[in-house]
Amino acid sequence: MKRHSIILLVLFCAAEIMAQQQLTRGILIAIEGIDGSGKSTLAQNLFALLQKKQFDVLLTKEPGDTTLGKKIREIVQTQDMPITPAAEYLLFAADRAQHFSELIVPALAHGTLILSDRLSDSSLAYQGYGRGLDIGMLKLVNSWAMTTVVPHVTIFVRVPVETALDRARARGRLSAFEKQDFLRNVAQGFEEIYANRTDVIVLDGTLSQENLATVAVEAIEQWLKNNSILVH
Ligand code: ADP
Ligand code: TYD
Repeated sequence: MKRHSIILLVLFCAAEIMAQQQLTRGILIAIEGIDGSGKSTLAQNLFALLQKKQFDVLLTKEPGDTTLGKKIREIVQTQDMPITPAAEYLLFAADRAQHFSELIVPALAHGTLILSDRLSDSSLAYQGYGRGLDIGMLKLVNSWAMTTVVPHVTIFVRVPVETALDRARARGRLSAFEKQDFLRNVAQGFEEIYANRTDVIVLDGTLSQENLATVAVEAIEQWLKNNSILVH
């Protein structure tokens, strides 16, 4: 390669690095809500917006973002065999342990901004409030599976259960979790879990997809500024 080409390449790389939004440390953001609340759509829109703003961002999800997790997701989604509530929870916990070890912990060490479509609070809401398992035990196992890492901030997308179910129906066949009475308990669970938490940004999931993404990206940037996590 000619000398001036090498210089140009070095300048280009330096410009790319300088253009990137630098964080003082890796950040883990959970996106939570009931089925059909619009979480996955928001997560994808946020990912695109943050990338456009030059953040080093990773989009991930629970369950099912690792090779093991994909198999676990298939089991819990189809439920074509008897599965006790405790066994169901432990499957989600196994997915979580693999997710943290393979993806989240390395990305945090790299200084990445991670968006996770669902995380540990889903277990508290679905297996705790939905299935009636002991919340204290779920918190203990969650913490162990997550090697004591906790999300820095959580975005809770709030929608009425009827709206969420209408959307889930329009999307296709309902899963084992998308039943009205069950989802009502889960929705109530999220409300109780987040009632006194200061690390949660509650968003109105009845906003249009575009407005929701704009409000969310502004809230994240504000949070990063307030917590002195943006270098420049
Ligand atoms: P979740 O991941 O919470 O289950 P999805 O993002 O898959 O929800 O959205 C469920 C359905 O609702 C999809 O068909 C999606 O296109 C639609 N949807 C998502 N966000 C919105 C929104 N803000 N307003 C109206 N419909 C939405
Ligand atoms: P998914 O298709 O990813 O649903 P969604 O797009 O609504 O997030 O399926 C995940 C399902 O698993 C969803 O119904 C919620 C449920 N779930 C639990 O019950 N406990 C958990 O800990 C997690 C992570 C998910």
